[in-house]
Amino acid sequence: MRENLLPLLINPYTGNSLKMDNEVLVDEITGERYNIINGMPVLYREDEVQGLNRLYQKRYDWLVYIYDFMMLTLSPLIGGKEAFRSIAEIIEINRGELVLETSVGTGIEIKNLVDHGKIADYYGMDISYGMLKRCRRNALKWNIDIKLVQGNAETVPFKDELFDVVFHIGGINFFNDKEKAIQEMIRVAKPGARIYICDETVTQIEKQPKIISLFYQKPDPEVYEPPLKFIPGNMLNVVNHMLWDEKMYLISFQKPEVNSV
Ligand SMILES: C[S@@+](CC[C@H](N)C(=O)[O-])C[C@H]1O[C@@H](n2cnc3c(N)ncnc32)[C@H](O)[C@@H]1O
Repeated sequence: MRENLLPLLINPYTGNSLKMDNEVLVDEITGERYNIINGMPVLYREDEVQGLNRLYQKRYDWLVYIYDFMMLTLSPLIGGKEAFRSIAEIIEINRGELVLETSVGTGIEIKNLVDHGKIADYYGMDISYGMLKRCRRNALKWNIDIKLVQGNAETVPFKDELFDVVFHIGGINFFNDKEKAIQEMIRVAKPGARIYICDETVTQIEKQPKIISLFYQKPDPEVYEPPLKFIPGNMLNVVNHMLWDEKMYLISFQKPEVNSV
């Protein structure tokens, strides 16, 4: 594991700091132990990942074998390039900032940002080991430094107020608890940080090739609603951008500098 990662991590269930003991991460107070597999800390409890989170964790462990082909080869053929471009235009990143993507997948959105000149200190978290393993391979191939952690976006294993930018693309529609995932993004964001949440709308689900729909739950229009109702009222500059002929939503907002309710 990258040594500069340790001071940023916590036990996501206790909030306590972790220390390294014989290649295992240990909660400094309770002694709870977490493995590091292939250099990536695994910071979730197996029995806490249930329902849709468990379903999609398993599903992405095998979807990974076709994911990059779908996203990098098939998607541009049906106009998906426009979505990548709009995302990179909206997500504001300054050189050297600390940036976290929750649900980083195979890393293609970070590559998209870097390709658009957004050079930063990138961290990625995902619940699927398969996706992370591919992300690590991709990052090496693309020569992009991404520090990776396996965890649940509803219990993010990073300390409070670390990141200048926190973004999420493509997983939240199917999370068990969208509100908790958004609260966690806000918790790990610095005061004044920029936060972005993006996923597909029901329009995309209706228009995409039927084969893609096989991999996801049956369309329930409510699932694809932009989760604006979960953005706390004290967040600033909340904007819901509709991208790619309304096939994707991207919510952007800013955490206030001072904690005001
Ligand atoms: C459609 S992919 C998006 C990946 C990447 N952001 C992209 O745009 O290519 C959805 C990702 O969400 C991850 N995921 C699903 N449920 C999750 C959860 N509860 N916590 C963290 N990641 C999750 C999956 O493993 C998968 O990598």
